Amino acid sequence: MSGDTVKTAKIIVRADGAEVALDMAQRLVALAQAKKEGIFRIALSGGSTPKKLFELLASPAFVARMPWERVAFYYGDERHVPHDDAASNYRMSCETLFNHVAATEGHVYPIPTNGTAEEDAASYQRLLQAHYGAQDLDPARPFFDVVMLGMGQDGHTASLFPRQPVLQEREKWVATCVPDDAPHTRITLTYPAIASSRHVVFLLEGKGKAEMFRRVRSGDDALPSSHVTTQGEMTFLCDKAVTEGVS
Ligand code: 6PG
Repeated sequence: MSGDTVKTAKIIVRADGAEVALDMAQRLVALAQAKKEGIFRIALSGGSTPKKLFELLASPAFVARMPWERVAFYYGDERHVPHDDAASNYRMSCETLFNHVAATEGHVYPIPTNGTAEEDAASYQRLLQAHYGAQDLDPARPFFDVVMLGMGQDGHTASLFPRQPVLQEREKWVATCVPDDAPHTRITLTYPAIASSRHVVFLLEGKGKAEMFRRVRSGDDALPSSHVTTQGEMTFLCDKAVTEGVS
């Protein structure tokens, strides 16, 4: 399977962040319902953008539509802090979604943060390999159905930060990263792991993302987000503030 890059990705524009979240919630339900066999695997992004989406998925409008028993939730990255730390992506996802939907119990796989960062990254990779059923990724058999990504104002995505060795990692599925301009040691999916997907969706909201979106879309190789690929389809799901002036 040869798939999309940031230059061939679809661009979908919605009026505002609420509409972006609604579109993504509808998209996830449709994709999960359409997968008739096996587990629907999604890697969640962190930060603040996904909060509206997670709250929507936990709302009465959506909670009955998602086939939760067939959905497995993973994380694209995590800050290496305790899971009850305010900076934890896992904590944010629990506060906005998993604490409110009992059916997700046992289907959520947080990145461990109770060992050293290296130990925890290796442990998460072993979990992913066990769920995949192999030690090596097969391009013809993507692991994730959906990888959700955000984008920082330095062009990072997941915890693939500028100037970090993890940008060169092509063997590991999960690795550590110590950003030189953001807090916390991080654990992140690597480019090969993100590429092992049927859909990559960048959720972008607000004019603060416009410059980076424009540069990534133009193929600026200096930005980590520019190097994201997928075996399947890639979509930039943006609000108007992100895409004004970008083709
Ligand atoms: C993280 C994220 C990171 C995030 C971007 C955008 O752990 O911080 O995974 O990659 O998606 O930094 O963050 P916002 O959505 O808060 O702008």
